[in-house]
Amino acid sequence: MNVDVMTRPAVLILLGPPGAGKGTQARMLQEKFGLVQLSTGDLLRAAVAAGTAAGQQAKAVMEAGGLVSDDIVIAIIKDRLADEDCRNGVILDGFPRTTVQAQALDALLASTGQRINAAISLQVDDTAMVDRISGRSTCAGCGEGYHDTFKPPHDDGSCRKCGSPELTRRADDKAETVAGRLDAYHAQTAPLITYYDAAGVLQSVDAMAEIDQVAGDMATVVKSVMS
Ligand code: AP5
Repeated sequence: MNVDVMTRPAVLILLGPPGAGKGTQARMLQEKFGLVQLSTGDLLRAAVAAGTAAGQQAKAVMEAGGLVSDDIVIAIIKDRLADEDCRNGVILDGFPRTTVQAQALDALLASTGQRINAAISLQVDDTAMVDRISGRSTCAGCGEGYHDTFKPPHDDGSCRKCGSPELTRRADDKAETVAGRLDAYHAQTAPLITYYDAAGVLQSVDAMAEIDQVAGDMATVVKSVMS
């Protein structure tokens, strides 16, 4: 398919370690720019919950804080990118995470005449990540993310967005697993910062700032690469 450059759907990549705020920012960008958040973590957790073959293979790896195999993740994202709702553009949250995945994404986008508008690196200190992750909860109703201190739900524990009373904590958010996830990030995902810098699409944002400040900086970057 040959897509004119002005009508190409936007493709944004969010890069950052566990707890950097990728999901938080992706949901805000989704609302602001009408793009679709594609989180491989969410897609994999849905596959685990549904008991699919991919989910059964991924479950133990995710609980241990490692990376699920490239084949499984690439197949999942390839299927999802073909969905109708992705036609206006996507925010890739947690994908790619290895050089093999980045190369597969390049090939996939080339085959549809698309390109990466920006790979945005959320820059944070590792020490703050454990605090962020250990205080995290997620609304079971709408998926909104919360933090006990930095972004609390209503006083009665319900979701500020949809009112659901059920907020859940992730199985891989235990302190001992978080250390392994950070190791996996530095060994396998951080090299993508150099990869996308070489491709001329790298942008960086200070993600140690407050959530709304980070969101403002992200929006500035997104506007600049979508014009
Ligand atoms: P995934 O679900 O992608 O987890 P992750 O990358 O570890 O990232 P997190 O979701 O933990 O953090 P986040 O950056 O989204 O931060 P959040 O916005 O929630 O992956 C889970 C697992 O799936 C992986 O370990 C792996 O096994 C597998 N997987 C997924 N993709 C894969 C792939 N491509 N290849 C192979 N395996 C894959 O924020 C965290 C907390 O901090 C929240 O409570 C939030 O409210 C708070 N917060 C956010 N921003 C701020 C701020 N600026 N200040 C203060 N608090 C903040």
